[in-house]
Amino acid sequence: MKLLITGSTGQVGRALCALADEKNIDYQAYSSDELDITRESKVLRAMRKTKPTCVINAAAYTSVDKAEDEAELCYAVNRDGVRYLAKACSRNSVPLLHVSTDYVFDGTKATAYLEDDEPHPINLYGASKLAGELEIARLLNRYAILRVSWVFSETGKNFVKTIIRLCQEREELSIVDDQLGAPTPATDVARVLIAMALQFDCGSTAWGTYHYSGAGVTNWYQLAEQIITEVKQYVPVKMQQMVAIKTADYDYRAARPLNSQLGCRKILEAFGIKQRPWRSEMVRIVKHDCELGAG
Ligand SMILES: NC(=O)c1ccc[n+]([C@@H]2O[C@H](COP(=O)([O-])OP(=O)(O)OC[C@H]3O[C@@H](n4cnc5c(N)ncnc54)[C@H](OP(=O)(O)O)[C@@H]3O)[C@@H](O)[C@H]2O)c1
Repeated sequence: MKLLITGSTGQVGRALCALADEKNIDYQAYSSDELDITRESKVLRAMRKTKPTCVINAAAYTSVDKAEDEAELCYAVNRDGVRYLAKACSRNSVPLLHVSTDYVFDGTKATAYLEDDEPHPINLYGASKLAGELEIARLLNRYAILRVSWVFSETGKNFVKTIIRLCQEREELSIVDDQLGAPTPATDVARVLIAMALQFDCGSTAWGTYHYSGAGVTNWYQLAEQIITEVKQYVPVKMQQMVAIKTADYDYRAARPLNSQLGCRKILEAFGIKQRPWRSEMVRIVKHDCELGAG
């Protein structure tokens, strides 16, 4: 098996490279500088040069609020770039593993979203990610789309890192408590993608769309409470008061789904992949971050 990995400096991209190193899996990874997926000729050249047996696309435009004002760029990456990758995979008879999002749903369902629930994005980022999914399904038979939610890691921009910083800087924090979902460590997204790639390499034909999130549904307010409890063990926290607010009262540029829960039974049945609790990775990152900051 040889992997071609895009978006190698992102949360999931970095985790994929680290895991492939650890497991001695042959791969060639490309940052956005090395391979801009919005350039079709570059995508084709990277495929020719790398000769992968499987492509994993971790590249994406991920700034949910900024996307509302950068529609062209967002669609160029999340729809057109994905189309170029899918076309190149089709031309080279290589499967594509692609990461997508809970934001393809509108969040109005009362229970966890399943793979065959009708997508209905309520923001531009979600719509662009859905457009990318549709391109893949249109152009390829051998593909897997993995929808994940609330990704965090020790690098990059994410909620865990933001709260670690803000609780040391501010006396009061206002956090929304009416969006439900499950945080997902980037390390686990990578583990799932590599597990799927290995099974496809061994002849699995379970192509299609799958959901994966960390185990343990929460909301942003509760998650922030848990993060801050951990931070207090290592560094002084300035925050005195945390205020629970509603999504409708928060000044988001892009609308947010209130229910981001992903049902993960299909991936368990097709690949034996079980959800792992996200908490231990959050605890590890807080410790690592605070010790780095204190040192
Ligand atoms: N973050 C979340 O909470 C979340 C939730 C659900 C789903 N997802 C999905 O999970 C996947 C990975 O997300 P992530 O959190 O790892 O995102 P991330 O940290 O923002 O990483 C995205 C990567 O894509 C690269 N990229 C952007 N434009 C590109 C282009 N034109 N060509 C090539 N690379 C490009 C970025 O490079 P530069 O930094 O150099 O631009 C970055 O390395 C994405 O598909 C995302 O939609 C994320």
